[in-house]
Amino acid sequence: MATLGVNIDHVATVRQARGGQDPDPVAAAIIAELAGAEGITAHLREDRRHMQDRDIDLLRQTVRTSLNLEMAATPEMIRMALDVQPAMATLVPERREERTTEGGIEVRGREKELAASIASLREQNIAVSLFVNPDIHDIRAAVKTGATHVELHTGFYSNATGLARDEEFERLKDAALAAKKFGLIVNAGHGLDYNNVSPVAAIDGMGELNIGHSIISRAVLVGLDRAVRDMVKLVHLKA
Ligand code: PXP
Repeated sequence: MATLGVNIDHVATVRQARGGQDPDPVAAAIIAELAGAEGITAHLREDRRHMQDRDIDLLRQTVRTSLNLEMAATPEMIRMALDVQPAMATLVPERREERTTEGGIEVRGREKELAASIASLREQNIAVSLFVNPDIHDIRAAVKTGATHVELHTGFYSNATGLARDEEFERLKDAALAAKKFGLIVNAGHGLDYNNVSPVAAIDGMGELNIGHSIISRAVLVGLDRAVRDMVKLVHLKA
């Protein structure tokens, strides 16, 4: 059965809009866990545009499920992860100008460089996931890096409509199957919402779905507890 990891960056984005203390993403993580979230995900960006170092330190002390730290594969961020010791580090590409993570990480041609960073994290018992496009070549390359997990980028599926969406869904299914065959644990995320999540949750062997924007958007209207509970139901429901 797939599980839900709630991405709380968007709470920090609202806080940073005023530069004050509210709303606190650490409080949001506690409420999300009480409502049934099985993991908490936070992306510490190099420009610190939403999550701050203080948030990550506090999350490490308070998260009772599993903390997934998303970050760029840079020496600064690897050092940070080694210091914080989250349950999992997810390596993502990062561009300062982007609004959100736009594509999967470039793995092909960087296997050796990534393998060195991943080895240092795994030595400290930190699971390592690579955020990849649903592409067999990227998955093959991910295996060579020593990563334990891949997170399949669901943004292409989420943004597509009609037949194009069906095609993107097939790509996700094929990528999940290939990753599983290679011994990787399969997570997925980006752009998933209350209307499009069910088929992805039902993919055979699907692990954690990392979902942020749709949950926090709904929370603004109906409250975070209800928004998380509604999503947990959909994620657990096998289509
Ligand atoms: N997974 C990764 C790697 C991401 O970068 C993001 C966006 O922060 C998410 C999942 C969550 O995406 P969304 O906010 O669209 O649900």
